Amino acid sequence: MSMDINPPKKVLFVCLGNICRSPAAEGILLHLLSQQGLNDRISVDSAGTSGYHRGQLPDSRMRKAAEQRGYELNCRARSLVPKDIQDFDLIIAMDRDNYRAVHQLASTAAPHVKLLSDYLGSDWPRDVPDPYHGGEEGFEYVLNMLEAACPKILAELLKG
Ligand code: 4NP
Repeated sequence: MSMDINPPKKVLFVCLGNICRSPAAEGILLHLLSQQGLNDRISVDSAGTSGYHRGQLPDSRMRKAAEQRGYELNCRARSLVPKDIQDFDLIIAMDRDNYRAVHQLASTAAPHVKLLSDYLGSDWPRDVPDPYHGGEEGFEYVLNMLEAACPKILAELLKG
């Protein structure tokens, strides 16, 4: 008889618009979970600290760049809500502005809120740069940074 009674660990990626960085992080982690047969152990979602793009698919430039690496991004943008802070086991903000915004929404201390760069060495910047107003290379850089961090995030989720 299977005794696997652990509910899935829940991780939430957060950026500003929920159309570039956090959907890409979600897609990359989902891809790793599928590859490793771990979809029932970990659930993944993403949200934005702003609601500017609510309901939209990820930015077409990010969808294209991600698709070229084998990631399909088809979440719909949503705003972060206070309930998310309790509902998720781990919340990962893309930059320090997003990190502060998550803490502002939390009514109590929230040690399960992290910065993406907490999972990377000091050769990476503290913030995942916002690619929205820049060129194509910005999207590639974001994907490189997220691909470096996601295996470490997965390892932490499996450990805890
Ligand atoms: P994201 O990128 O936070 O990575 O989804 C942005 C998307 C939209 C805007 C800024 C950043 N915007 O200003 O509309």
